[in-house]
Amino acid sequence: MATFAELWESLLPIGRDDGTGGYFRQSWTEPELRCRAWFTDQAERRGMAVERDGNGNLFAWWAEGKGQAVLTGSHFDSVPGGGAYDGPLGIVSAFAAVDVLRAEGFRPGHPIGVAAFVEEEGARFGVSCLGSRLLAGEIDPDRAAGLTDAEGTTFAEAVSGDLGPEPPEDYRIGRDDDLLGRIGSFVELHVEQGRALDVPVGVAGAIWPHGRWRMDFAGRGDHAGSTRLEDRHDPMQPFAHAVIAAREAAERHGARATVGRVRALPGGTNVIASQVTAWLDARGPGDEVVRATVAEIRERVSLAAAFHGVDFGLSAESYTSLVDFDADLRKRIVAALGGAPVLPTAAGHDAGILAARLPTAMLFVRNPTGVSHAPEEHATEADCLAGVAALAAVLRDLAAP
Ligand code: GLV
Ligand code: MN
Ligand code: MN
Ligand code: MN
Repeated sequence: MATFAELWESLLPIGRDDGTGGYFRQSWTEPELRCRAWFTDQAERRGMAVERDGNGNLFAWWAEGKGQAVLTGSHFDSVPGGGAYDGPLGIVSAFAAVDVLRAEGFRPGHPIGVAAFVEEEGARFGVSCLGSRLLAGEIDPDRAAGLTDAEGTTFAEAVSGDLGPEPPEDYRIGRDDDLLGRIGSFVELHVEQGRALDVPVGVAGAIWPHGRWRMDFAGRGDHAGSTRLEDRHDPMQPFAHAVIAAREAAERHGARATVGRVRALPGGTNVIASQVTAWLDARGPGDEVVRATVAEIRERVSLAAAFHGVDFGLSAESYTSLVDFDADLRKRIVAALGGAPVLPTAAGHDAGILAARLPTAMLFVRNPTGVSHAPEEHATEADCLAGVAALAAVLRDLAAP
């Protein structure tokens, strides 16, 4: 079998922009389809049966043993210009851990599965962890089916797009109780995304509550030269307030708030914009902190919008409450590792969604740059190998005969 480094290198070029080093792997675009083909190939090389659920999530099963499976894995999709490790490290490590167990002759008492969840970043359809949310019944399937990407393609079209002209009849978007019932626990390995880890491997404690809100500013397009300042309805003005208010409200409430994406129409240098749409990402240590942060931003931006004669609306696109991972599973994992630091994270993960249905846990691998969602995101090969060894130890324990 391939070494971890060979496995990693085989996936690494897919979706990378060679100019910036950033990754563009949106769900069901060509690079992500290549990753999915890579997944099927790796499963087949190991004699693992591939299953695809109605939401497009992929599973590879080492179907030995009885009862409920131990599932591990992560996602292939990236944010625009993302790093190499966020997502793929969890899938490559999962196959590598299977190889470690097989090389030592381990015979699982429970099936072991490797998962690749779709649209974890929500970079194409706007809602994070969409694949796991659908599987777990944490989003209305009709709403998810109708979500559109920037070109107007719906999630329903994308999810069946690679199934050929006649998708199987029982193909259905939404919660899958049969599949959930076959899984006893989920352990996701992920690169750590801040500067929270000073040893190679840690274990997740909690995930901060986090969500996304869409801000719509409707003004009036006009001439940048001939329109007097007092006659303008310029949506860029309250939008600019929103960026500042997000930062200041986050500081006041002990939260994090970011405006990382904006679209101004029609988009001419010499045109006062008619419409601005921007997206707010807000997170904090507790639900009340996030609620208060967003409420303050809404109030301040509403005042600025009224002053500039602009219509303003703010609506939630997704929200995930505080996730406190299963305490028993966490204790068992820390024991299997012979001790490991437990740390919270402000990043969202499929494990956080599945935690509503199953005992779930996460392993974090140290990131020496502390940067994530950007090309500088990193983990050393030695730390990755420590992550694989830790994951193998966890699977050995949880799938023990
Ligand atoms: C996903 O990585 C997120 O937390 O935004
Ligand atoms: Mn991410
Ligand atoms: Mn991730
Ligand atoms: Mn994530």
